[in-house]
Order: sequence, then structure tokens, then C-alpha cells
Amino acid sequence: MLDAQNAAAAPAFIRREDYRPPDWLVPDIALDFDLDAVRTRVTARLTVVRQGAHDRPLRLDGDGLSPLSVRVDGADAAGWSLEAGALVIPLSGDRAVVETVVEIAPDKNTQLMGLYASGGLLCTQCEAEGFRRITFFPDRPDVLSRYQVRMTADKARYPVLLGNGDLTGSGDLEGGRHWAAWTDPFPKPSYLFALVAGQLFANRDTFVTMSGKTVDLAIWVAEADLPKTQHAMDALKASMKWDEDVYGREYDLGQFNIVAVADFNFGAMENKSLNVFNSRYILADPDTATDLDYDAVAGVVAHEYFHNWSGNRVTCRDWFQLSLKEGFTVFRDQCFSADQGSAAVKRIEDVRVLRAAQFPEDGGPLAHPIRPDSYIEISNFYTATIYNKGAEVIRMLHSILGPEDFRKGADLYFDRYDGTAATCEDFVRAMEEASGRDLTQFRLWYSQAGTPKVRATIEGDTLILEQSLPNTPGQTNKQPMLIPLRLALFDRATGTHAGEQLELLDTPRKAIKLPGSGTRPVLSINRGFSAPVLVETDRTSDDLAFLSAHDDDPFGRYEAMQQLMLDTLVAAVRGEQADHQPVITAVGNTLANNALDPAFIGEAVLLPSEAFIGDQMDRVDPEAIHRAREALRTDLATALAGQWEAAYHAHAAARFEYSPEAKGARRLRNVALGYLAAGRADEAGALAFAQFEAADNMTDRIAALGTLANGGAAERAAALAGFYARYKDNPLVIDKWFSTQAFSARADTLSAVRALRDHPDFTLHNPNRVRALAGAFSMNQLHFHSADGAGYRFLADILLALDPINPQTAAKLLPPLGRWRRFDESRQKLMRAELERILAAPGLSKDVFEQASKSLG
Ligand code: BES
Ligand code: ZN
Repeated sequence: MLDAQNAAAAPAFIRREDYRPPDWLVPDIALDFDLDAVRTRVTARLTVVRQGAHDRPLRLDGDGLSPLSVRVDGADAAGWSLEAGALVIPLSGDRAVVETVVEIAPDKNTQLMGLYASGGLLCTQCEAEGFRRITFFPDRPDVLSRYQVRMTADKARYPVLLGNGDLTGSGDLEGGRHWAAWTDPFPKPSYLFALVAGQLFANRDTFVTMSGKTVDLAIWVAEADLPKTQHAMDALKASMKWDEDVYGREYDLGQFNIVAVADFNFGAMENKSLNVFNSRYILADPDTATDLDYDAVAGVVAHEYFHNWSGNRVTCRDWFQLSLKEGFTVFRDQCFSADQGSAAVKRIEDVRVLRAAQFPEDGGPLAHPIRPDSYIEISNFYTATIYNKGAEVIRMLHSILGPEDFRKGADLYFDRYDGTAATCEDFVRAMEEASGRDLTQFRLWYSQAGTPKVRATIEGDTLILEQSLPNTPGQTNKQPMLIPLRLALFDRATGTHAGEQLELLDTPRKAIKLPGSGTRPVLSINRGFSAPVLVETDRTSDDLAFLSAHDDDPFGRYEAMQQLMLDTLVAAVRGEQADHQPVITAVGNTLANNALDPAFIGEAVLLPSEAFIGDQMDRVDPEAIHRAREALRTDLATALAGQWEAAYHAHAAARFEYSPEAKGARRLRNVALGYLAAGRADEAGALAFAQFEAADNMTDRIAALGTLANGGAAERAAALAGFYARYKDNPLVIDKWFSTQAFSARADTLSAVRALRDHPDFTLHNPNRVRALAGAFSMNQLHFHSADGAGYRFLADILLALDPINPQTAAKLLPPLGRWRRFDESRQKLMRAELERILAAPGLSKDVFEQASKSLG
């Protein structure tokens, strides 16, 4: 709880139920930028129109701006005032042209919101509320305007000037300056505004749309990075085609530009026709990017492209509707990626992310529904819940309606709301109308937080399904959800089932009569992870071993293996006699199964992470978990030594190739390397070092480095030093060097991480670097939760140093400290003490205030 003194100063909650349509609309805006890193002058001419009958003044949001001039219909305005940063202008008529002039300092903008300098570039980030740091404007997504933008800048420093829409003019000026004008014909909210200026070079291509229009594509980067842009370009063209094929949606402008920048708070941003990307999601070549990086580049390029329809053409009415665009678009990019490679492995990865990031959020102090009811700072709500659970909710609609009706619903949604700002309710209603189904109960997924638990048991000839939903902050006494469960009942004798069924569990308890053959079937449930729930069953370790060998649903097979491993590990952590043999047998059988895709095998034989094991326990004991997992890993390594070695050698490649098969082979080979290292540390040190030195790609090199960094092999120091020397000029690879060390299980990890904090390459001004060190370390369960609290202090120190520089990125570091309820009393005290120290810091941002105060609860 806040004390009275803090409560008085505490930032206010914004509530969904307080939504009111805007008092004034802005159909047109003309912006003039006189660009310069030290001082940029912004002149904005807004056509404003009173909406409805009211006498309220025009209120233009502003953050850190002071007007140099305010004019209304060409004359100096009278009576305006500044209220909490906003410019308030009383207007008598129903329509006016309001012109403001401000000056901003891009090179002082360390928050990376609004207009800022990155490297030699000037660029913008406006979502969610950054536009108000550029000019006075009603900075809310339901105010849509047509933008005309003119930029002038020094031509040598900023030869390329990019804006939204189409280039409508350009020319040279006196004094080495030049100008460009951009017009965007599509009305858009201010959060989709962007400009970029700088020395950029383009990888250019074209795409011919389904109706035969040619679109000019360009990916803009520093000249030296041009050779690393082809994968992103291929992904862009594939996404454009995919959205036509799967959703019937075509691109709507003559140009599509992507710019990569080094300093960026997020992954990427979908500004209309001018996407701005964190360079880590554009640049890829075999020497510097892993296979996972390649996948991430394609996934993020697709995601931002797909927003052109799910987000830009149809946008959000208010920020409570964020999942309308983000959850839907994540679902779309997940399906795209599944179609590009192994759908089974993609599903396993997506579920792993959901369980690692969203389940803990849903079970902790920051739990919120995918459509929240209130917030203090909206940038704190770009969460795994909005994104990943939001995507699961759309996926469930897809399963319940079936692909045809889902597509009809999507068509109706896009056509009906094109050019407007919509709500989650609008989306569900379109799905309801198109399919003729009543989605009343389904809507609870939008309003109730928490991960539902489903208990599935077989009693005689009956399958019993029971659901419950835990309390979450501010929500108790929840209603039963509509939970779509794909299930199949296997005959143990034949290893087959009579067909998958989709069971819609809509009551607290449901009893389903089984078609009786008399013998007890083996239950495969939540196949394909059809619902984002926790499933508890009465399956024995024999049942799980059976499914790990026979389930024809790849996710079900993976899940059975994971459950078998988890049951074994949880028993060991609790100090029970844990028999490793069933896991060893199942892993051995999986490795020996030539019918399986190596990429799948690589996932299936991996042990659950220490954090995920912790999530299964009432009280997390980081040391016991680490010990239990290492013991099982060592037993697997020793008992299956021949098979690991065979897998390692069978999947060696003469030369790097980028294909699904080659990726799968690398995956399995590197998993095998990890097990070999667990078995015979000294021999494996030489093996890993040899791989490290000989690798012709980053996937193999970083896997070898990770294996070495984790252990005590003699080659460790040489590998870390060699890696640094080789890549010291490539910040994205140096990020990997930082995070590899931060993830290490070695006893000296905390002191290593402290030393890295003082490394000349560490900076609080680059969010990727902060995440690579502090973010990675906070996910190292063993050392972050070191019993003396030094890990907590390390994170809190960085967070507090970062907050005045970049509050959004600082706030994102906080959630691991908020999980204190899951630990023993001593750790609870230490974690709470750090949260209290953070809250007591003078001048704390509201971003961090919200996270820390909610986390103390
Ligand atoms: N609209 C977001 C970018 C964004 C994120 C703006 C947070 C403001 C705050 C963009 O579409 C996005 O979702 N990017 C993701 C990556 C995506 C593949 C999930 C990101 O930046 O992490
Ligand atoms: Zn997005």
C-alpha cells in the first residue's frame, strides 16, 4: 500500500469506463520540420473541428513542450494556457486552423520517445504517447488525420529524408540544405506518424500486388550493413503475399520503407509505410545471426507489415483495446511463420514463450485481462498478456469457428471498420455475426485475468473435466470460461485413436461418457495447445511415456515428454526418490526415432528450464531446482552418451546452408553438444572449442560459446576473449557476448556480471545492451535469486540508474523483482526491500512507480 504522503503525489489511474469520444477532431495536419540534432523547430498547422454540441476548449497534449507561438486562423491566439503540459485553447467557432511552433532537442532525448538521435540518424517513435513530445496534438488513437509533412535539413548530414505515405516533392536549398515533402492519403492516428533523416542506403525491390499494382520496397540501413538485409527483404515479400493469400488483404500505397536503427526501446514499429526497426530484427547474415535470429527477423518483419491492416487501416479506439491490434497481429505473424517452416516446432516455441513470460505475469501482482480496466502508464501494458495471451484468444476463436467462418469474420471486421478506430467488442461482434454463433461466454477471455486450470481425470467409463480460475488483483469470484480442448483417446494396445474431438468446456464440471471398449484409454488433451490453460491430469508416467512415443499430435508428444520430465524433476526437488529411468528411456527412444524431424527432436529432448520447474512449485528453491536438473541432465548425458555422440556427428554439415533441414540439424547437434558437455566436461571442452573455432555460422559458434561459458573448461577464457576480439565492432553480436555470460550457471556469474556493468562497452543509453546484461541476468534463476540478495541489488541498481535516462526500458526490468511471493521468507524480504528502495527514489518515473507499487501489493 502507498502511504498517505506518496498517495497524494501518486500518478493517477486512467480507466476504461471513463472513455469519452474526442471533443475536437483534426481531419488535417500540416507539419514543417526544420531538422537539426541540437534544435529542431516544429511548426504544426491543425484543422480542428468541434465534435458534438459542447463548449469545451481545444486541448492539445504536450510533453515537455513550450510554445514559441500559438495562432488561430492566422492571428496570435489569446487566452491559451498550459495545463500539465497540455496546451488549452478556448475557441468560439466550430472549426479553426490552429498553428503552433515549438523547438525540441533530439540529441537530448534519452527516453527514445518522440524525435531522437540514434547514431547519426534522426528518427521518431510515437506509439503510444510519443507524438506529444514532438508537437501539441490530441495524442489519442481515435483522432485520425491526413498528414502533410515537409522536412528541411542539412543535405550532407541528412541526405535521405523519409516520411509516411508518398514523396510529393523535394529540392535543394541554400546553405547546403535540402527539403522533402511527404503526403499520406490515409487518415491515421498520431501514434503512426514517423520521420527518419540521415545517411542511409537502401536495399530496393518491388512487389506486384494481387490487383497488379507495383509497390517499391526499400530497407534502409548504414551502407556497411546492406549485405545483411536480404533476409528481411525476402520476409517482407513473403508477408505481403501471405496476407493476400490468407486474408485477402493487399498493400495500399506505392512505397513501403523500413529503416533499421541501433537505439530502440522495442522490437519494431508499424508506422504507416515507414516501419522503424530495432536493427536486431533486420540485420542478419550467417556470421553474425543465429537461426533463431533469422526466424525473429522474419517474424517481426511480418508482424509490422500485417499491422497495415490489423492496426493501421483499422486502428484502436483507445489504448485499452491494444490487444485488438497486437493480439490479432501476433496470431497472424505466428501463422505466417508456421507456414514458412515447421509448424510443429513453431507451436512449441510459441507455447514456451507464453508459459515463460505470460503465465507468471497472469499469476503475479501485475496480472491483468487482455483488455485491461485501468492503467497508470500505458507503455507498461505492452505485455505478454496483451500480446501472447491476446494471440491465444484469437487462435481459440479460429478453432471454435473454423477457418472459413473465421475468415468471414475477419473480412467483415476489416470492411466494416476500415478507416476507423475500433474496439475488441467490435471484433468479437463481427466474428459473431459472420459465424452466427453466440460468443457471450467467450467474451470472458477479454475481461477475466488469470490462467484457468483444467483438471482432466478418467473414472471408469467417464472423462471428467473441471475448470477453475484463480483470483487476481482486483478480481475474485470468476465465472466459468469457454475453453476449447482438442482431445483424443488412445488405445494402448494399438497405439491409435478413433479421431480427435473439439470439446468446448463451458461449465465448472463436465462428465463425458467414453465409447467403451472396457480398457482404460490414454488421454491426449489440449492438443496443439488449443487453450492457454494449465492442465492437470491423473496420467501415470507410463501414460506419458506412451504418448511421448505415439501421440500423432506433435505438440501432444512434446508435452507428454515435458510432463514426464517435470514430474521427475519436481519429485526430486521435493526430496522424493526420483527415478530417472522413464525419462532416459523416453529420450533415448525419441533420439532413435528416424521418422521424426531433427528440429522436433531437438525441442523434445530438452529439459524444462529452471524457471519453468520453479513455476510448478509452491515455493521456488533455486538451488534445489538447479541441482535436480543438473542431476537428470548428467544421467541423460551418461546413459545416452553413445546416442548424443551419434547425433552430434550425424548432423555435422560440410558447409553452412539456410534451409529448414539444415536449421533442424544444427539445432539437434547443438542440443547434443550441451549433453556431451554435461557428461564429460573435459573432453567436451575440447569438442566445444573446436566447434567454436571452426564454425562458419553464428548458431554453431554461440552454442559452443554458451556451453564453454557455462562450465569450467580450460578453453573458456580463450573462447570469450576470441569472440570479443572478432566481433568488437558489431554491437548486436557483442550483446550476445554480454548475455551469454549473464546466463551462465557458474558460481562466479554475479561478479562477472558486475564487471561487465563496468565494461567500456556497457551503456545505459542503448536498450539492447541493457537487456543483454540486466535483462538476461534477471532470467538466470540460480544467480539472480542468490540467497544473499546481491542479484536483486544488482538489478535494482541498474534500474535506478536507468530510470532518469529511459523510464520505459527501466520499468520493463522490474517484473522479476515482483515475483517475491513465490520465494522463501528470506528472499521475500530481500526482494521487497529492493522494491521499497526503488519506490523511495526521488523523482521516480510513473512507469517504474506503477510497476513497483503494484508489485509490493
Ligand atoms: N506496435 C508495436 C511497437 C510498440 C511496442 C510500440 C511497445 C510501443 C510500445 C509493434 O507492432 C510490436 O508489437 N513490436 C513488438 C515485436 C512484435 C513481433 C511482437 C516489439 O517491439 O517487441
Ligand atoms: Zn505489434
